[in-house]
Amino acid sequence: MRLSLLSGLLVAALQPAAVAAQASGTILDGPFPADLHGSNFTYPWPPRVFRFSSQLQELDMAFLDVPPCGAPNGKTAVLLHGKNFCAPTWNGTIRALSARGYRVVAPDQVGFCKSSKPAAYQFSLHQLAMNTRALLQALGVETFTLIGHSVGAMLSTRFALLYPEAVEELVLMCPVGLEDYIQKGVPYISIEASRATEAASTYASIRGYQQAVYYVNEWRPAYDVWVNMLVNIYYGSAREAFTKNQAQVVDMVLTGPVAPYFKDLKPRTLLVVGEKDRTAIGAAWAPPQVAATLGHFDVLGPQVASQLANGTLISYPDLGHTPQISHPDIFHSDLLGWLSA
Ligand SMILES: *[C@@H]1O[C@H](CO)[C@@H](O)[C@H](O)[C@H]1NC(C)=O
Ligand SMILES: *[C@@H]1O[C@H](CO)[C@@H](O)[C@H](O)[C@H]1NC(C)=O
Ligand SMILES: *[C@@H]1O[C@H](CO)[C@@H](O)[C@H](O)[C@H]1NC(C)=O
Repeated sequence: MRLSLLSGLLVAALQPAAVAAQASGTILDGPFPADLHGSNFTYPWPPRVFRFSSQLQELDMAFLDVPPCGAPNGKTAVLLHGKNFCAPTWNGTIRALSARGYRVVAPDQVGFCKSSKPAAYQFSLHQLAMNTRALLQALGVETFTLIGHSVGAMLSTRFALLYPEAVEELVLMCPVGLEDYIQKGVPYISIEASRATEAASTYASIRGYQQAVYYVNEWRPAYDVWVNMLVNIYYGSAREAFTKNQAQVVDMVLTGPVAPYFKDLKPRTLLVVGEKDRTAIGAAWAPPQVAATLGHFDVLGPQVASQLANGTLISYPDLGHTPQISHPDIFHSDLLGWLSA
């Protein structure tokens, strides 16, 4: 009896070490093959790789790690991409933050871009947050400014709920998950059905979606690179696993709502929305009367901002889902202004 109590105490005492061990991994620098885990898109900086163990397999997370350009301010900014995006989506934002003295770390999440596309993986916001935390710990970065866009903002919300002590301030840009899609009547969709939609993606379908939702129907030749970055993966060497992983990400968004928890966020938070954004997971297959209720960022912005303990809302009346690409000067000036306030 005494022995089992003692071993119970020992196990309890060992738990922090076990958690730390789980967080460990190796940082690798290239050169890597041009086609890294199914993406041969050329990144604006050479990617680095965090090799770690997760769910009993060895995985790679590619990431950009850009030093401050000019006088360092001693801070790190971590940028989390959304679905349909990769670390290079942050090209302009990385440059703006680096010029202000930030070190900038922008990972590709597992299942995306130049990171592993595991054939079997349980995707959850918690798991992706844990992977991201492990990467930052391997880099020796304990606290940072966390900036997430789209599904990356949903992930950043979960991250800040799990690891509030790590997040010095939080920026949620055009978030997915300001509303709970299933609660609002979106039917759950199987991973098979969702994968079929992913596999049917083409240059034309991706561009059509981005033009309508990201750019409020405007199109400029400079946007083409972001369509091609995705087409490159959809038709790349990891197409089969990638389309499944993306379907799993849809499941993750539907089944892991963060909408009830905005009131619990501890860090100072900036919420940025474009009122012409209509992003809503499930709007494409929900009954029309349900779809009509989704993605109203002009309403969701103030509604969620009012729940934040320490929040500021910036709502752009005329912008869509990607202000960092369509209106970088306005967005970066507002972002840097809030960060330095
Ligand atoms: C990527 O792959 C495509 C298709 O195979 C090829 O046309 C393109 O040149 C490759 N790009 C790079 C940067 O290797
Ligand atoms: C990133 O920004 C630089 C500087 O503006 C530009 O030259 C480069 O083409 C951009 N890369 C991508 C992938 O947009
Ligand atoms: C918001 O956060 C900032 C920075 O941590 C702090 O100085 C300020 O007092 C907070 N405001 C409120 C209302 O909690």
